[in-house]
Amino acid sequence: MFVLLLFLSVSLTSARPDPAIVNQSTQLLRRHGAKGVNFTFLNFENGLYYTELDTNLRDVLLQLRNFTQQSVLTQFDWVRARNMEEGRMQQPVLNSDRFPCDLSEGRSAERPTLISQLRPGDIDIVAAFGDSGNSGTGIMSLGPLDAYVDYRGYSYLGGGFETWRTALTLPNILKLYNPQLYGYAVGHSLTADKNVSCFNLAEAMLNVQDLPFQAHVLIERFRSDPKVNIRQHWKMLSIQVGANDLCSELCNWPDTDAFLRMEAHQLHKTFRLLKDNVPRLLINYIVLPDIDELLNMVRKAPSHCAQRMSFFCNCHIKYDQQMLYNAAKRFLHLQLSIASSPEFRSDDFAIVTHGILRNVSNLWSENGIMQKRFFANDCVHYSQLGHAVLAKTLWNNMLKPNNVQLPEAWQQPFNNFLCPNPNRPFLRTVGDQF
Ligand SMILES: *[C@@H]1O[C@H](CO)[C@@H](O)[C@H](O)[C@H]1NC(C)=O
Ligand SMILES: *[C@@H]1O[C@H](CO)[C@@H](O)[C@H](O)[C@H]1NC(C)=O
Ligand SMILES: *[C@@H]1O[C@H](CO)[C@@H](O)[C@H](O)[C@H]1NC(C)=O
Ligand SMILES: *[C@@H]1O[C@H](CO)[C@@H](O)[C@H](O)[C@H]1NC(C)=O
Ligand SMILES: *[C@@H]1O[C@H](CO)[C@@H](O)[C@H](O)[C@H]1NC(C)=O
Repeated sequence: MFVLLLFLSVSLTSARPDPAIVNQSTQLLRRHGAKGVNFTFLNFENGLYYTELDTNLRDVLLQLRNFTQQSVLTQFDWVRARNMEEGRMQQPVLNSDRFPCDLSEGRSAERPTLISQLRPGDIDIVAAFGDSGNSGTGIMSLGPLDAYVDYRGYSYLGGGFETWRTALTLPNILKLYNPQLYGYAVGHSLTADKNVSCFNLAEAMLNVQDLPFQAHVLIERFRSDPKVNIRQHWKMLSIQVGANDLCSELCNWPDTDAFLRMEAHQLHKTFRLLKDNVPRLLINYIVLPDIDELLNMVRKAPSHCAQRMSFFCNCHIKYDQQMLYNAAKRFLHLQLSIASSPEFRSDDFAIVTHGILRNVSNLWSENGIMQKRFFANDCVHYSQLGHAVLAKTLWNNMLKPNNVQLPEAWQQPFNNFLCPNPNRPFLRTVGDQF
């Protein structure tokens, strides 16, 4: 029951960052079309994410989540040691070993004005949107009781806990090029703890539908933070979302066309909000695996995981229906077409689609079976090692389009680690082809 309650609390508080702005956020949600309806277990219908229960019990649920979070974190060293024994963490890099890249040319002498001339060290602020994958939910979980603890500081897009030596993440790489980098999660907390989560706003259970809300929260946090100079600073926002849309939303909508229209509308609105309110922004949009690859992942999963995956991805069994399968393909293409739209491209704004997950089951597999060390104990989230490998893969892809094959050699966080060089000093601002 406790677990169930936690699960419930995770879903009910998704994308709702701060109890102090409940009224404001309720209004925002209303504007975005999310419904306030009474909660029942049977009543899983379109948009049932923000409920009366949420309005009334939000604080209680938040406290319950935070209580679990804080209790587990008091045992952090022990939890870490267990994960290390199981091979689910990267091997620490010795202090005598140097970072693979030369850092000296990594930051421009003067702050660039063109997005196409950004070096890694020119990024001043990082931020992240996403679901449990990047709130770090479950990364180090050992069982059902701590399954919903957020290890946000290890998330490959928005975490900056420790350093690259023990936790390879995108912010931990960028930090080396710009020690003043700001905005990554400095520890493991819920989004609501602003001083820890900073601009890593990812929340478990989040959908594309919730992105405009995340954009509002980010803009508010930027505006109210004295460390952010919204006009001058170069900002990098990394987004990974869509797993919940494919796994639990799509197949529960009676009308898939309506679903896709809603998704397109929300995604477009998100980018519009960001374009209108956040100058000097480079967006990494990590595109989810194609539906064929998603089904591949379930097939290649170790047998004890396949069942859990079906629980978390309850749509996957329904993909033998041609209509749903086609809708999943269309979902991918609508994301790509919105992200590459010319209206979201200017001298100081770009959305770069990253196809690093196109062949991701290959990356995790040996002899056709996915290796459990890349996954958390719950079989659905990545382990810290998995996040480290993804951080490297994304970093490489930010410099140069990747080899989509993702060979086994890439499974080591520091193998095939690319560096900016005099021929290619800038971050890529044109997205991947699919
Ligand atoms: C919430 O907003 C409505 C509409 O602006 C307002 O009437 C109401 O008093 C607000 N409630 C709280 C608790 O601030
Ligand atoms: C939810 O339930 C309460 C109490 O049963 C009722 O007063 C309220 O009108 C309901 N809200 C909706 C949106 O149905
Ligand atoms: C969570 O608990 C910690 C430690 O007790 C506290 O500092 C923090 O403010 C709490 N966060 C929330 C959102 O309640
Ligand atoms: C967060 O940081 C600010 C500025 O350093 C400080 O004033 C505030 O008390 C902190 N809040 C919490 C909950 O620690
Ligand atoms: C994924 O990798 C496999 C094995 O290397 C390869 O055969 C396949 O073509 C790749 N898929 C894509 C989409 O590149």
